[in-house]
Amino acid sequence: MNEQSTMVIFGASGDLTRRKLIPALFSLYLKGRLPAGTHVVGFAKDPLTDEEFRARLRDGVEEFGARPLDAAAWQAFSADLRYIPGDFTRLADCQSLQAKLRGTADETSNLLYYLATPPAFFVPIVERLGETGMAREDKGWRRIVIEKPFGRDLASAQELNRTIHSVFDEHQVYRIDHYLGKETAQNILFFRFANTIFEPVWNRNYVHHVQITMAESVGVGHRGAYYEQAGVLRDMFQNHMLQMLSLVTMEPPACFDADPVRNEKVKVLSAIRPIALNDTVRAQYRGYREEPYVAPDSQTATYAALKLLVDNWRWQGVPFYLRSGKALAQKVSEIVIEFKSPPHVMFDLPEQYQLTSNMLSLCIQPDEGIHLKFETKVPDSVQETRSVDMEFHYSSAFDTGRLPDAYERLLLDTLQGDAALFARSDGIEMGWRLIDPIVQGWQSSDAPPLVSYPVGSWGPAEADHLLARDEHVWRRGCHLGEELDDRH
Ligand code: BG6
Repeated sequence: MNEQSTMVIFGASGDLTRRKLIPALFSLYLKGRLPAGTHVVGFAKDPLTDEEFRARLRDGVEEFGARPLDAAAWQAFSADLRYIPGDFTRLADCQSLQAKLRGTADETSNLLYYLATPPAFFVPIVERLGETGMAREDKGWRRIVIEKPFGRDLASAQELNRTIHSVFDEHQVYRIDHYLGKETAQNILFFRFANTIFEPVWNRNYVHHVQITMAESVGVGHRGAYYEQAGVLRDMFQNHMLQMLSLVTMEPPACFDADPVRNEKVKVLSAIRPIALNDTVRAQYRGYREEPYVAPDSQTATYAALKLLVDNWRWQGVPFYLRSGKALAQKVSEIVIEFKSPPHVMFDLPEQYQLTSNMLSLCIQPDEGIHLKFETKVPDSVQETRSVDMEFHYSSAFDTGRLPDAYERLLLDTLQGDAALFARSDGIEMGWRLIDPIVQGWQSSDAPPLVSYPVGSWGPAEADHLLARDEHVWRRGCHLGEELDDRH
């Protein structure tokens, strides 16, 4: 098999290419990890020359890549970036792209089609690739990478999967969820299954409940038009949240290959009990309706919290609480596992003192690491205890500097043919099966009220009530040594 590979970026003049794709490829190149013989071709409507395309990408790398830019390395790397103008919805333009690819690269080279376009173009592009025979693997491999959102509900995701499968085989398809490329998310399975001490307690016998938080401090910014259509459930829950949940809850696959891993994820997602509407909270930050492209009477939720249960042997009866929102106090993504209290306390603790449960927090970002909270005897006391935090920070444990951007790993995997960190069609559809009824329920007369929350807060009080009903509070996992109830 020929080792030359060409990555054709559809929609290459857009933001994703300059913000994420090229900085990630350039970073791999600098580390010597970009497979030799990898070429990049941009394909989009804008009438750019190769030089103009490269200049635009250089700006992107200077702004979003590692600084300062290594000019000599950029010169060498960018010499191989080419641009072909064309309308990817038109058959004639795709045929001309195909002819140009043949003319320049070896005809037997591998082709990776990266769809960095708005989702409305996914179907026409796939159809054109089918009509031109560009998905056939008789002369090297052919792969397609698809960005989110993958559909906007179950029906549209199924339709999109049907179109893709009419042209590509599932083994050729890479559906991106950038959370899966984050080092700390990848580490969840290593933490669980490369150690012996955690897995025995990772079940209903020891775990009291689990919390997953994905908080963002920014509002919707210039993405109001998209966000009005999406809302927080489609934007964060159907994909990133459910992916993190499945990493925490799945059974160990027999090996780390794409299908065994994805089988386990789908299995656990399909064990989630339908989520009750009164176990959901929907909220909107104050001022959202004044954002550009947002309707003045918008009902779109920018924050959601929910409780769910996983009906299987391991997790029976353990509540999982998920929350995500924009314009919150801090950008932080974390998973907190709160363990059960000891069955009997033999110490004569000071009056009103209650032992704090053991907690394990997996900090996905920004201070990537893991914390374990446990009780310790206060020195020089007779029987007093206090909670302390055992911490692991990537920044101090590893001498590697900044963690790689998620796209580095994901792009490398697409070039190397490893789909373990990508969503499979049944996983995507399972996600919509869980989220669709909430999206629809929120438009019905049984919907919980849309409440508001101040910018810079930790969300609405209703999200606290959701946990208070079960006598829990939201935890600040990555700051276990500080306040426990993060509303204060
Ligand atoms: C994207 C959402 O998928 O993830 C954005 O569309 C969100 O709305 C982003 O801001 C969050 O990703 P990260 O990596 O910044 O946590």
